[in-house]
Amino acid sequence: MSIIHNAEKSTITLHTDNTSYQIKIGPFGLLQHTYYGPHMEEDAEYCVMYRDRGFTLTPYDAERKRWLSAELMPLEYPCEAAGDFRAPALSIRRKDGILIGDMRYESHRIEKGKYSLEGLPAVYDDTEEAETLTVVLKEKNTNIRAVLQYGVLPHRDVITRTARIENGTEDDIVLTHAASACLDLVSGEWDVINFHGRHAGERNVSRTPSGHRETVVGTRRGASSHHQNPFVILAEKDAGELHGQCYGMSFLYSGSFSCSVSGDAYGGTRMVMGIQPDNFDYVLTPGESFQAPETALAYSCEGLTKLSQIYHKLISQNICRGPWKNRRRPVLINNWEATGPDFTAEKILHIAEKAASLGVEMLVLDDGWFGKRDDDFAGLGDWYVNTEKLGCTMGELAASIRDLGMKFGIWIEPEMVNEDSDLYRAHPDWALQVPGIEPALGRSQLVLDFSREEVVDYILDHICKVLDESKADYVKMDMNRPIFDVYNALSAYQSRGKIMYKYILGVYRFMEKLLERYPDLLLEGCASGGGRFDAGMLYYCPQIWCSDNTDGIDRIRIQYGTSFGYPVRTMGAHVSRVPNYDTRRIVPFDTRAVIAMEGTFGYELDLNTLSEEEARQVPVQIETFKKYWDLLHNGLYYRLTDVTHNTKEAAWMMVAEDRSEALLNIVVLDVSGNRPNRFVKLAGLDASASYKDEANGAVYSGAALMSVGIPLPKVPHEKYHWMRDLGEYESVQIHFTKVTD
Ligand code: DGJ
Repeated sequence: MSIIHNAEKSTITLHTDNTSYQIKIGPFGLLQHTYYGPHMEEDAEYCVMYRDRGFTLTPYDAERKRWLSAELMPLEYPCEAAGDFRAPALSIRRKDGILIGDMRYESHRIEKGKYSLEGLPAVYDDTEEAETLTVVLKEKNTNIRAVLQYGVLPHRDVITRTARIENGTEDDIVLTHAASACLDLVSGEWDVINFHGRHAGERNVSRTPSGHRETVVGTRRGASSHHQNPFVILAEKDAGELHGQCYGMSFLYSGSFSCSVSGDAYGGTRMVMGIQPDNFDYVLTPGESFQAPETALAYSCEGLTKLSQIYHKLISQNICRGPWKNRRRPVLINNWEATGPDFTAEKILHIAEKAASLGVEMLVLDDGWFGKRDDDFAGLGDWYVNTEKLGCTMGELAASIRDLGMKFGIWIEPEMVNEDSDLYRAHPDWALQVPGIEPALGRSQLVLDFSREEVVDYILDHICKVLDESKADYVKMDMNRPIFDVYNALSAYQSRGKIMYKYILGVYRFMEKLLERYPDLLLEGCASGGGRFDAGMLYYCPQIWCSDNTDGIDRIRIQYGTSFGYPVRTMGAHVSRVPNYDTRRIVPFDTRAVIAMEGTFGYELDLNTLSEEEARQVPVQIETFKKYWDLLHNGLYYRLTDVTHNTKEAAWMMVAEDRSEALLNIVVLDVSGNRPNRFVKLAGLDASASYKDEANGAVYSGAALMSVGIPLPKVPHEKYHWMRDLGEYESVQIHFTKVTD
């Protein structure tokens, strides 16, 4: 049993293999949070410090018990009313604008299996070991309920949380905030680690003390965004990669979100994750309910690496679905950086022929094959093949690609429409825009109202015709602008939060129906690169294009930041041309391949433009990727250098779960003449074992590799007979195997 109810002590304890989470039904039914940390069996009620503190409020029914202020207790799902002035998880307004919400425990139940959520992504369990706790809170003065659900995945060390708010009153109510999870910690000094960025510069790591204020990480852009990622860590002040306590919250949602961390007046810290509350105003009519998306929580007392590894396993095995979840993905070539939308079938075949001859396994036809799509200004929404431009049908092009022995995939951007399109001319009201107000344009396009089922169905229907014709093996689903003008032409009451929530549900419905119809399809997510890289999308797409920035060195930093919350196998990564189109940087061809192998691995350039020497390397790179694929995508991932602060070298490694082998990757970022010796410390090996460098037979002690490190290898000098240091941006990949005898 993972969930234990102790009726005598009024506690409910959720156990995973290494952690415990405890809830207490406190005085007057206030639902308290007493503990989340290493596995323990006892009652942790002592963590609730009852004291009469000045200038606080007590519930009316507590009468003279002035020590019973909600503001002084760690709470499970605090509501903005009833005396807790800290950041709320729930805020409810009556129709007349009055704030209400005195939520008290009503009932609970424990069930076998992990709950699922209709229309929303959710962690699943196929081992039948998971359990679900449901706790119902009732508003003291009305018939409003908050149904809290907790999923326990014992072997993953993960606890999921969500909440459903039910309006059982006779009137409309407005939810101004309805978060998915709250975590109240009573002690400790914590840092907030969040992943911020911009288009072509996603998921930079920021670490700042939470302190005595509210820190809010979030976005209002309608997508989980390039700017902030819905994965946030609370790490003990001194916690590092391999030591210290840390908590993670990963939000399984792809729209605007907010994660607030605040230090209270008495030494506590509160973390709240949920849909962005700004302009949320979700109207619930009588009998209606709102289902908050899910948050996956994890705790590690062994530092950030362990926390990341928990999420890597969870996402790989309990969020990603479908036949591609554990299968090696085809090495692909995408034409976008080679051609943009300027192509014909002949040009594409020229790229494909060369790629096929070098061992590439799939061609992906990017933006530009449909409608009048010759640039950014037209065509989105017209999902019929431009045969005139291609010079053949999509079926014919796909067949020619297959004749080369390759799979075939296409790009789509279903949520968008250009004003210059047949679709917009026929259905202008299908675009999100407010009557009488000129809508904001993003990349010269408008957003279709995916909160409307008929819009989703129409687009799906047209795209399916192309997929049927081409029998596509793969789809890259893009989304290239933020969302601002929110208006539903069919709705009498414009509730921004509701329309945007239903919009995201529409996106999920689109992907679910696509996968139902084509169960073997490999779907790759994309939003101008990594603008919607979140655990919600990964429920549908086992991989997401990590960034439009394909500069090798920038990519190291982007993939480093992404690795905190997401596994390597989900990161779309390609080798592209140099000088890089954006940075003009020249990174050696083999280094670009090493970096792309920290991802799904593919190419995004015309391989006909390579030198003979580079072309010879392509099959070798592909073979290397295939050889190490299991280790790369299933091994435990270790960040060996902090590339936010260490600009000397980037190093990361993958270690087999049984520690029998490891793949070390090093890229030199900075060089100097006659440089001092430089070592990289390895991690995750068996300290009592020896490891052999498979390339040169050198044997090292696991303990030494992890404490002293390995010196940066030297390579033969091109001109002289000696060995030289690695140069700027050069790299090495070292495969170690454990010496058994
Ligand atoms: C943005 C994507 O991130 C790119 O890879 C490419 O597909 C373009 N869109 C096409 O418009």
